[in-house]
Amino acid sequence: MALFRDDLNTQLNNIEVSEIRQFDDATSSIPDILKLTLGEPDFNVPAHVQLAAKQAIDDNFSHYTNNAGIPELRQAAANFQNQKYGLHYQAENVLTTVGASEAIAAALGSILNPGDGVLIPAPIYSAYSPLITLNHGIEVRINTRSNHFVLTPNMIESAIKAHPELQFKAIVLNYPSNPTGVTYRREELADLVAVFKKYNLWVISDEIYSELTYGATHFSIAALIPEQTILISGLSKSHAMTGWRLGFIFAERSLINQIKKVHQYLVTAATSIVQKAAVEALTNGADDGLKMAKQYVERRDFVYQEMTKMGFEIARPDGAFYIFAKIPAQFNQNSMAFCRDLAQKNHLALIPGHAFGDEGEGYVRLSYAANMDKLHEAMKRLQSYIDNPDNQN
Ligand SMILES: Cc1ncc(COP(=O)(O)O)c(C=O)c1O
Repeated sequence: MALFRDDLNTQLNNIEVSEIRQFDDATSSIPDILKLTLGEPDFNVPAHVQLAAKQAIDDNFSHYTNNAGIPELRQAAANFQNQKYGLHYQAENVLTTVGASEAIAAALGSILNPGDGVLIPAPIYSAYSPLITLNHGIEVRINTRSNHFVLTPNMIESAIKAHPELQFKAIVLNYPSNPTGVTYRREELADLVAVFKKYNLWVISDEIYSELTYGATHFSIAALIPEQTILISGLSKSHAMTGWRLGFIFAERSLINQIKKVHQYLVTAATSIVQKAAVEALTNGADDGLKMAKQYVERRDFVYQEMTKMGFEIARPDGAFYIFAKIPAQFNQNSMAFCRDLAQKNHLALIPGHAFGDEGEGYVRLSYAANMDKLHEAMKRLQSYIDNPDNQN
């Protein structure tokens, strides 16, 4: 029997495994490689959250839960958003998902019809485009490079006008941003909201890094346009729980009830034990992320300064844990060639900017979710490569 068949979903021909994962895997076999690749906090899950999970196991909390999540978790998640960001959600506005990833998939799967247009400011995290493609949507990317990676109402208007053939259904926002670390202030969001209303767009707002901001407190677009916002969040970044796979969608009740259908047939429900731990994280550990943020800011400052001195151009990030840096002009390879060479010769792995779309070409992304010792060593290796790119280390 043939191992591969040519009668699969043809949309699979149009998507690839994420370049982030491909590059990370490819560098794993290099001896002594120092990886600042994945968006993965280096902190442990807070001890009190671990205890809550252990307790749930001891209590045999091992059955299917309600599809949308256990009631106390939906309530705790609503309270968290309301208290932190001044929103007005109730438990019925919350869907508990398997990480933010499933939240994005369920949201796009619920709103898209074949041929619908979706606007994507770019460079951007790599998960949205393939899901739009799988749902037979058409993405239209908006290059934000010329404005330090900040989207403006004019850019949106121009993108819509450039595609009169498309019916635009939604826009994806992600702030604080992966990969740029850029975030939006209230006034900037208010300007965008006028356009979102004018074109009646769903706003899929991925705010998974909301607890990791280093200037002003995060401001959610759901505060301005709750009726059109599909807010994505979760515990992967705020509580260093990437492997526990717990996320949320916040939206109008009627929409939550529709998205719940897609979610039910994808995964039934999030893991019961993790849901119990998540209640603890969002109630007694509501500020756990802020403690981590204090350390991230010190790391950001260090890496930002060092890389700027080396000649990288960086839009100073105010959130998340990434530095998105323009490769110095004397290196005229593309971002993949630069990152491959750096990994092979000086044993430092960064993600090529192209992993975030053509708009990220010429840049590299460094994740500073690593301790200071590692970051010092990384800067040494990078400096030595910049000084002597032709030398084998
Ligand atoms: C912007 C953004 N959204 C979503 C995710 C996925 O989050 P989760 O691990 O909760 O699925 C990530 C992970 O890196 C991310 O950077």
